[in-house]
Amino acid sequence: MRIYLIGAGVIARTHAAAAAKLPEPAELRVADPNPAALASFREAYPEAAAYDDAAKMLASEAARDDDIVIVATPPFLHLDGVRLAFDSGRHALCEKPLAMNVEEAEEMERLAAERGLLLGCCAVRYKGMLHNEAVKRVVQSGVLGEIYHVTFVNKWERSRAGIEYQPQSRWFLYRARSGGGIAMDWGPYDISTLVDVLSPSSIDIAAAWTAKPETAADPTDVVYDVEHHIGAFLSFRREGVRAVAVHYERGTCTHGQEAFIGEIEGTKGAVRWTPYDSRQPVVLRTDRDGKVVEEVVDPGERGPFTVMDLPLVHFFNHIRGLPSLANVNGRAVDHYRFIRSLYDCAETGERRTIDIEGA
Ligand SMILES: NC(=O)c1ccc[n+]([C@@H]2O[C@H](COP(=O)([O-])OP(=O)(O)OC[C@H]3O[C@@H](n4cnc5c(N)ncnc54)[C@H](O)[C@@H]3O)[C@@H](O)[C@H]2O)c1
Repeated sequence: MRIYLIGAGVIARTHAAAAAKLPEPAELRVADPNPAALASFREAYPEAAAYDDAAKMLASEAARDDDIVIVATPPFLHLDGVRLAFDSGRHALCEKPLAMNVEEAEEMERLAAERGLLLGCCAVRYKGMLHNEAVKRVVQSGVLGEIYHVTFVNKWERSRAGIEYQPQSRWFLYRARSGGGIAMDWGPYDISTLVDVLSPSSIDIAAAWTAKPETAADPTDVVYDVEHHIGAFLSFRREGVRAVAVHYERGTCTHGQEAFIGEIEGTKGAVRWTPYDSRQPVVLRTDRDGKVVEEVVDPGERGPFTVMDLPLVHFFNHIRGLPSLANVNGRAVDHYRFIRSLYDCAETGERRTIDIEGA
């Protein structure tokens, strides 16, 4: 198995670490035009063959059926990277957000179909976490009765990518490079997790909003034109079952209170968890004799993989024909369409409906 990394920045290292944990040996190649990024990557992974140009790297040897190119550059370069991968005859696993806009995402899907290759997106990073799997089992068991409401709220007071988090990567703040703010940064994980747990075949966005809270730490020496707090009222639909109302909120900057809440309410019970923190318990609440009963759900034994490993692990499993939580081709694009539709709805005030493939 050969892994080709386009980009040698922060996230590329996590993919290199994941490659070392795959069940079969993986050879690493990496390309980045920035000599400092390349040198520092090679300090950590001296075994990686390094190139200053991705096209050169991919042209250096003939493609094999199971080669994986991981596109780990800022979003404005994702389509270029995916196109290079497909042109070289290799599968592409692209970092999130998949693209800058829906047209780019559809172009990726079209190229994948044309070449008979796979397009994966790293938005699946939190799929397969033990506590999310435990929540899924509770939902699927029927113990909650008819599910009617979900609260999915995750907001930090100060954790903006490009400011408090990873301040060296200022591109996060510039819409023309990042595609957007928190909706593009964390929205892909949220939608991927929610769809995994609730399995809708379509999602209505009834209302959405975006905001850019101001602080004394806001940079003034670079372009900073992205939002850091978003929310929406959603309806998850699937034939034959009641539509589920979802209160969705995500922020990396708020003057309000930090909150990390996942809660699914049904007519017979509720399950509550902290969606991205597996150290927190998954709590099932039901009724016995007219009183609330709480029970902690056992999430099971932790496996060898961290969330940073999972995008590559899921994609690898998909390529090998093993059970996999990867979102590939149309499915990856549908999820991306949801993110862009959040912006559309917030800007226009008009409702949007997104079909979700294969849920
Ligand atoms: N940093 C994180 O915690 C994190 C987590 C999850 C996902 N991501 C995603 O990963 C992607 C990259 O983010 P990052 O944090 O690693 O950014 P980064 O700024 O650390 O690294 C990006 C790298 O891409 C390189 N690059 C630029 N143009 C290139 C080209 N033409 N060919 C090859 N390399 C090129 C840059 O030189 C830089 O080294 C983004 O889509 C981001 O949303 C980042």
